[in-house]
Amino acid sequence: MIVVSNRLPFVLKRNKDGKLIRKASAGGLVTAVAPVVVNGNGLWVGWPGIHLEDPLESIPESDPNDITPTAGLKSNKVVSVRIDPKIFDSYYNGCCNEIFWPLFHSMPDRATFKGEHWRNYVIANKEFADCTITALKSVVKSDNTTASAGQNIPLIWVHDYHLMLAANWIRQSAEEEGIACKLGFFLHIPFPPWDIFRLFPWSDEILQGMLGCDMVGFHITDYCLNFVDCCQRNLGCRVDRKNLLVEHGGRTVRVRPLPIGIPFDRFVELAEKAPKVLSTTQKIILGVDRLDYTKGLVHRLRAFESLLEKHPEHKENVSLLQIAVPSRTDVKEYQDLKEEMDQLVGRINGRFTTPNWSPIRYIYGAVSQDELAAFYRDSAIGLVTPLRDGMNLVAKEFVACQINTPPGVLIVSPFAGAGETMHEALICNPYEITSAAEIIHRALTMPEDERILRMNYLRRREKLNDVNYWTRSFLAAMGSLVTQDDHDDIG
Ligand code: ADP
Ligand code: F6P
Repeated sequence: MIVVSNRLPFVLKRNKDGKLIRKASAGGLVTAVAPVVVNGNGLWVGWPGIHLEDPLESIPESDPNDITPTAGLKSNKVVSVRIDPKIFDSYYNGCCNEIFWPLFHSMPDRATFKGEHWRNYVIANKEFADCTITALKSVVKSDNTTASAGQNIPLIWVHDYHLMLAANWIRQSAEEEGIACKLGFFLHIPFPPWDIFRLFPWSDEILQGMLGCDMVGFHITDYCLNFVDCCQRNLGCRVDRKNLLVEHGGRTVRVRPLPIGIPFDRFVELAEKAPKVLSTTQKIILGVDRLDYTKGLVHRLRAFESLLEKHPEHKENVSLLQIAVPSRTDVKEYQDLKEEMDQLVGRINGRFTTPNWSPIRYIYGAVSQDELAAFYRDSAIGLVTPLRDGMNLVAKEFVACQINTPPGVLIVSPFAGAGETMHEALICNPYEITSAAEIIHRALTMPEDERILRMNYLRRREKLNDVNYWTRSFLAAMGSLVTQDDHDDIG
């Protein structure tokens, strides 16, 4: 398998001596896909998070103390894509983060459409496609049975909104080179309804790029239907809504809902081992997010403030622990959000703090996996209230780590993919601040037996539908999974 994504599962940094070192990247894509590539001995094509000027400088091996799934990825399995820094900035910050991110999260007012960013998106996608083709040729060369025998066909898995054009070029180049391969695409964010999608001036090109794949996957059926709808209305494709098929360029492309999961057992293990880090005197409401305006953090703080106003009995007994990992710090919307959060945390803490208690503990930074597991395990409430989110893995990690009896409560927004599938969570519309405060109150006062019942169901589902299940579903949707049933048929 060759995985292609904007970011490699680690970023490179220079230490004091100028030596390159790896640092794990945060985000849903990395958490989910790294174990797949490592365990499947695959290749990963992506950007290393730093502009390497010396073309001969190579990727270092991981630190021996690194326990993240990324650690097992050997440097000879990594293809680092090098793009001119100015082009990269316009492609990544300009097109991906300032246009696609807000648009696909149905927040078009936050998008800034600029032709220049689109042109650089095209150039960058071409670069990723070229690197992938080079990687593909090396795979085929090292396994010369591949194309000729028609077996063991390389599988290329392209990820996310950064690379929506690349697949079609990979297909064309592979065909020209006479190399057989299968192409799959997975979008880790929502796919918006047609009315929003068509605001993008080059929306046809995006669809044509994605339709270069054999199969296009999304988290939930709603996003699949939006995509199928756009293919029909923008490109005039013949579509089958029931079976989620799109005809394009003489081929039939499968569209599939593939809700992503987490490495459930690994989180349980982390939670079992992690030392206690939170005080037991107060109940903790936990938020863990990249600092991103789609995550609804401002609404969340206001809901917590409203809780303290309406239910003063929680003062000195409950704290909100919000961990926000810095993200896309070159983009103004993210800088503004950082400022707004700093001010809001200061104002709410200034209003309610007593000599013994601060209502909000705010950590602006990444935390280690161990610490994260301890926070998840020892919190009374997991508060996951994005305004819009493709899936949201934090909700799933929280329930995996809830190993204490009695457990805590998960609150989740209906506008996250997780809100569609985690039925036993308390569902909370983050836009309505006073109702959100009431839902937090309900969670804080929920009887033990109800908490146990809800958490048992949530945990059972996430254990079954974990990240391995997601990968198998992807492979099955690609027709690349040989199941026991297939063996039985052949036998
Ligand atoms: P997104 O893909 O938008 O970042 P997800 O909730 O799907 O959102 O995934 C976020 C991932 O990043 C999770 O695996 C979570 O554990 C990790 N993460 C988020 N915030 C932090 C943090 N402050 N420190 C460490 N890891 C974090
Ligand atoms: O899940 C959406 C996503 O954009 C992923 O592709 C990425 O891993 C994560 O969010 C973090 O974003 P970025 O790579 O821009 O820091």
